[in-house]
Amino acid sequence: MEDLLIKVDQNTIGPLSLKKLEKLVKQGTFSPLDLVWDGNKDRWIPAQNLAELQPLFASSNGHNGAYQNKIYAVASGKGGVGKTVTTASLGVGLASIGSEVILVDADFGGANLHTCMGILKPEYNFDDFYNNSRKPLTEFILDTPVKNLRMISGTSGSMSLANPKYHQKQRLIRGLKKLQADHIIMDLGAGSDYNVIDLFLLADEHILVVSTEPAAILEAFGFIRVCLLRALKRAFKEHKQVVEIIEAEESNRPGRVRITIDKLLDKISEAAPEARFKAVSLMNAFEPKIILNKVRRKENVNEGRAIQHAIWDLLSLRSDYLGYISYDPNVSRAVKNFKPFLVFEQKTPASQDILALIQVKILGKKGIKELFAKRKWQKKLSNISIIYPDAQPSKDAPICSDVCFYWGNCEYQNEGHPCPVRHLESILSN
Ligand SMILES: Nc1ncnc2c1ncn2[C@@H]1O[C@H](COP(=O)(O)OP(=O)(O)OP(=O)(O)O)[C@@H](O)[C@H]1O
Ligand SMILES: [Mg+2]
Repeated sequence: MEDLLIKVDQNTIGPLSLKKLEKLVKQGTFSPLDLVWDGNKDRWIPAQNLAELQPLFASSNGHNGAYQNKIYAVASGKGGVGKTVTTASLGVGLASIGSEVILVDADFGGANLHTCMGILKPEYNFDDFYNNSRKPLTEFILDTPVKNLRMISGTSGSMSLANPKYHQKQRLIRGLKKLQADHIIMDLGAGSDYNVIDLFLLADEHILVVSTEPAAILEAFGFIRVCLLRALKRAFKEHKQVVEIIEAEESNRPGRVRITIDKLLDKISEAAPEARFKAVSLMNAFEPKIILNKVRRKENVNEGRAIQHAIWDLLSLRSDYLGYISYDPNVSRAVKNFKPFLVFEQKTPASQDILALIQVKILGKKGIKELFAKRKWQKKLSNISIIYPDAQPSKDAPICSDVCFYWGNCEYQNEGHPCPVRHLESILSN
């Protein structure tokens, strides 16, 4: 094969030999989505589209190297609704059908995805990535006990990254986009501060986990509204008058809608008639996906639809209801055993629900053929479950107790067990 010209982050490099390209792939500098010059077609094309280059990206598990590189962000507004447990089991489900999956703990204030995966002392975490700005993200990826499923652990205790700058968040997303994976699933922190919102908006798919309590529903709606206003504000940052209109709306209490987005658009177009079209195209491209969690009764299932309607009526945004996950005590048991619930037990309601959700909504498979495929899939999962190692907490693991700073506000007090929620070493030791 002739030497190739490549384009990485807008820089043209080369011509390079296949050997040199291979080195760049190993370093994580050149990804399947980066461009190569196709002399026959006289244009730039993604590297993964060139059959000769696919072996460069192929992994040892037989993946063909054409990765989807889709980034999902999982957020909620309210804390404790089940983002982390859902992220972990989504990852297990997708990896078990042969997709390459990377989970990313982007809850910078209270990372705990690693404990959920049974990794009690992660070798690397985000702190290491940000403190080593020259090293690519690939160097900080950890293996998990599940084949095809890897993870990037969050900061553990130091919280030095609790406030990353916008360019750091962009750098993170650019780095994630280059990873050799089909699904990259980011578990975000609770609340609607700019860190969470920016990462949510920068992802390709925006998943909102909502539990059935009224406060969680209200906060989920408020979260989407704040995200939309933030996205509009960033899009019109050069237009002072439009920004002022959006800021006036932003200053309303979260969840309290003074005017609908339709009316806001009217106001924006009065100030800048050309802005409406741009705002509407931005809104058409933003379609959050809803997962309703901890569903105790069948009639609660419709609450997912109710949120969908509210988002449409008041924010003029389309959303997609991916499905629900039942309230299931096995989820808490799985957390206490440091396992994703889909690994802990496959035949329980929560596991069955998430399998259906992955199968129908994420993979888009509904037919009878798929029903048989599902049996095979379950068998694979139970095999994973058999070999998944039992994790034993180390003696110095933070034990959940009433000396914890958050005890009064914690919804999942778990006294006597290693804290499944937050790493509070520094606070507990004071
Ligand atoms: N479907 C469910 N059925 C029963 N319990 C659940 C379910 N989903 C979550 N839980 C419980 O809720 C707890 C919190 O879940 P999780 O840590 O995933 O929430 P979170 O949204 O990530 O929280 P945070 O906002 O603090 O990051 C779990 O430890 C588990 O005990
Ligand atoms: Mg969490």
